[in-house]
This record gives sequence, C-alpha cells and structure tokens, in this order.
Amino acid sequence: MLIIRDYNRNDLESIVKLEERAFEVGPYTIHMLREILHNPESYSLVAMEGDVITGYITIFPIDKLHADIESLAVDPDFAGRGIGKGLMIRGEEWMKKNQFRYSVLEVRDKNDIAIALYVKLGYIIKEKLHAYYELEYHGSRDAYRMEKDLELEQ
Ligand SMILES: CC(C)(COP(=O)(O)OP(=O)(O)OC[C@H]1O[C@@H](n2cnc3c(N)ncnc32)[C@H](O)[C@@H]1OP(=O)(O)O)[C@@H](O)C(=O)NCCC(=O)NCCS
Repeated sequence: MLIIRDYNRNDLESIVKLEERAFEVGPYTIHMLREILHNPESYSLVAMEGDVITGYITIFPIDKLHADIESLAVDPDFAGRGIGKGLMIRGEEWMKKNQFRYSVLEVRDKNDIAIALYVKLGYIIKEKLHAYYELEYHGSRDAYRMEKDLELEQ
C-alpha cells in the first residue's frame, strides 16, 4: 500500500540512494540534498511501500504566490504505479493550504515521462530555458519552466 508522509531527517540516506538511481545524469549530491531537504522554508514528502522509501518531492516557496517543485523522483523499481502523481497531488495540496496560487517547476526538455506527468496534471510550458543545466541529457542542457494555476482546478 502506498503511504505518503512528511520527510524526516532519518530519510536522508535513502533519498541520496534513490536520487542516484532515479537520475541518469546529474543527481543531487548528499550535500545538495541536505541543503534542499533541511532548509527550514522547504517542505518535503516521501512515498513509502512498507518500510522502503520509493519516492520523494521537495517544494520550495519562491514568493507569496509561487512555490517551486524543487525535486521529484521515484525509484525506477517502483515506476509507473502512480507514486509520482501521488506525490505531486499531495505537494499541491500543501501549496493550496499555504495560500500559494502557482506551482512552478523546471524540467529537462528531453524528459518526456516527467513532462507527460506534468501536462496530465494541468501544467503548461511558460518558457524554454537555454543551457539551464550543466550536464547534457539526451544531447540537451535546456529546460522548460512549467506552471500550474492551482485556482483553476475544480
Ligand atoms: C517522472 C517520475 C517522477 C514519474 O514517476 P512515476 O511514479 O513513475 O509516475 P506515475 O506512475 O505517477 O505516472 C504518472 C504519469 O507519468 C507519465 N508516465 C509515467 N511513466 C511513463 C512512461 N514510462 N512513459 C510515458 N509516460 C509515463 C504518464 O503520463 C503517467 O500517467 P498515466 O499513468 O495516467 O499514464 C519518474 O519517472 C522519475 O523519478 N523519473 C526520474 C527523475 C525525474 O525525471 N524527476 C523529475 C524531474 S523534473
């Protein structure tokens, strides 16, 4: 059974491993993850299957209206089971509860699976960010900035 709960500091090591398994190119290092996950302004959730962490999401407020999906990853062994979608939905619920109107994210332009997930959830491409990433993935360093107006949802 899929359980989604708040992140706690004991989850850090599992998330480091998950991040390395989920991202072919440029996973966050333990130092970056510590900075992101332990930032007092950020909010993170983890997905659990039994006592295994199968995914996580981190949200970072940008200003009063906008919050950014700083990170989202699902363990490849658990892909395609609705975990990514579940984490996004729970993250958006937190944003709405905290009066953010817009959910924002950056995604590699060649990351078709993640883009398909975001489009399905109602995100639209706002701009293309050239050479946004340091490392290439499928021959590109570009990203899309995507956004969802959380008030437009039924
Ligand atoms: C993107 C990611 C989080 C999706 O997680 P997931 O748990 O496998 O996705 P879900 O099972 O919730 O699927 C949600 C939607 O994603 C899309 N999707 C998932 N797997 C897909 C695949 N193999 N091919 C195409 N689309 C796919 C579909 O639109 C799917 O909706 P559907 O099941 O109704 O068709 C996961 O693939 C991942 O961690 N990728 C590596 C890290 C990454 O790219 N993170 C995002 C950075 S911006």
